[in-house]
Amino acid sequence: MSVLIKGGRVVTAADDYVADVYIEGERIALIGRSLDVDAEKVIDATGKYVLPGAVDPHTHLEMPWRGKTTVDDFYHGHVAAAFGGTTTHVDFCIQGKGQTFGEALEIWHGKREGKAIIDNGFHIIVTDLSEDGGTLEELATLPEEHGVSSYKLFMAYNDSLRISDEGLFRVMQVAARTGACVMVHAENGDAIEVLIADAIAAGNTDPIHHALTRPPEVEGEATNRAVQLAHVAGAPLYVVHVSCEESLEPIQAARRKGWDVWGETCTQYFFVDLSFLERMENFEAANWVYTPPPRPKKNQPILWDAVRVGDLQVISTDHCGYTLEQKALGKDDFRQIPNGAAGMENRLHMIHHFGVREGRITLNRMVELLCTNPAKLFGMYPKKGTIAVGCDADVVVFDPEKRHTITAKTHHSATDINIFEGTEVVGSPEVVLRRGEVIVEGAELLAKPGSGQFVRRAKFREALQPEVAAPA
Ligand code: URP
Ligand code: ZN
Ligand code: ZN
Repeated sequence: MSVLIKGGRVVTAADDYVADVYIEGERIALIGRSLDVDAEKVIDATGKYVLPGAVDPHTHLEMPWRGKTTVDDFYHGHVAAAFGGTTTHVDFCIQGKGQTFGEALEIWHGKREGKAIIDNGFHIIVTDLSEDGGTLEELATLPEEHGVSSYKLFMAYNDSLRISDEGLFRVMQVAARTGACVMVHAENGDAIEVLIADAIAAGNTDPIHHALTRPPEVEGEATNRAVQLAHVAGAPLYVVHVSCEESLEPIQAARRKGWDVWGETCTQYFFVDLSFLERMENFEAANWVYTPPPRPKKNQPILWDAVRVGDLQVISTDHCGYTLEQKALGKDDFRQIPNGAAGMENRLHMIHHFGVREGRITLNRMVELLCTNPAKLFGMYPKKGTIAVGCDADVVVFDPEKRHTITAKTHHSATDINIFEGTEVVGSPEVVLRRGEVIVEGAELLAKPGSGQFVRRAKFREALQPEVAAPA
């Protein structure tokens, strides 16, 4: 199949120019002005942006946790992602207690089989380094043998996913040897458990107490601990879902010293603040119960500054969708509200409208934050994350003037909640291609379940070599 995208404004992290993009098979074959080529499909992109398919490095599809499973499986999650202009994501594979890493990965590969429509890789979540679980030796083999080059550790959720500081540090030492990246969910799990017990003892069971028992300082403390330990171990560190100034500061300080520390925030932290957890009509507050929780509004301009100047390098989604029915389980006790919210379908909408259109970041910077940096940091660049000859033809033809109202009534995620419900944006994907195949055109889904591929990722910062295919 060949496709010619004509006359669009090609925007990468570095460039912005009008050109035709010619795709042959799965790759971009030619880029130039008024290309004289025949193609089986021609897309007129006049007045549109031609962007790299977005890359989301933080998602939880079909994730079983605390007795509930996130509602977007690899089909529904991928459909939602595709309509939002995301063509690649890296999902979290959880090592269950008593499981080897190989066993866990086999289960997660099974989840995507026959369902995937966009491409994805896996990070491994390390939960059990006991004799019954995974060994550090096995962990060391994952980058080369499985194409899994990032180890994720939870410093909180004492009931389920948390690892000890010793475990965290040992994994960091392994990462320093193997070229993997260490990712941390940074919150002080012990302090949170004490605060939760105090809140329950005082009869404080409403959703707001989810946030009040996880204050910004406990995120800041754990972030600093992870930063210092990673430096001692000599491992690169990526801090996920940075929500506030308290956790941003240790990252900024480390980067100023030249340490190998990176960080992301997520779309929701720019828009949803602590006051949303006080909206008790219809128990709506539960929709915004995720971790770290929504923060006081003063953090929002701080996070915009951080992504604008490069103190944070990525905006991800932490896509983790639950239904109203699942959220309602916590009506009398905030501890029972499943933590998480869906976001893959609207990241580009929200960041383009409120970031680019409203002048907080440039268009190039948006591409860098949503496409290029996640691909680079997680070993997929330049196969993914940019538009250049030889790269995978993951392309979004984006109409910067199209009006769109975000709502759960029309979104494609399986959840009946949209945390940006009713938001009106200008700018929306019109055509989405994944490896040269049109998977979304207007309101139509054209991808076949099972057509998405698993992406074996290179080690930290090692680029995958694109096979530069010369056009016939
Ligand atoms: O609330 C969230 N974020 N749920 C998913 C698990 C995590 O901490 O990322
Ligand atoms: Zn987390
Ligand atoms: Zn997460």
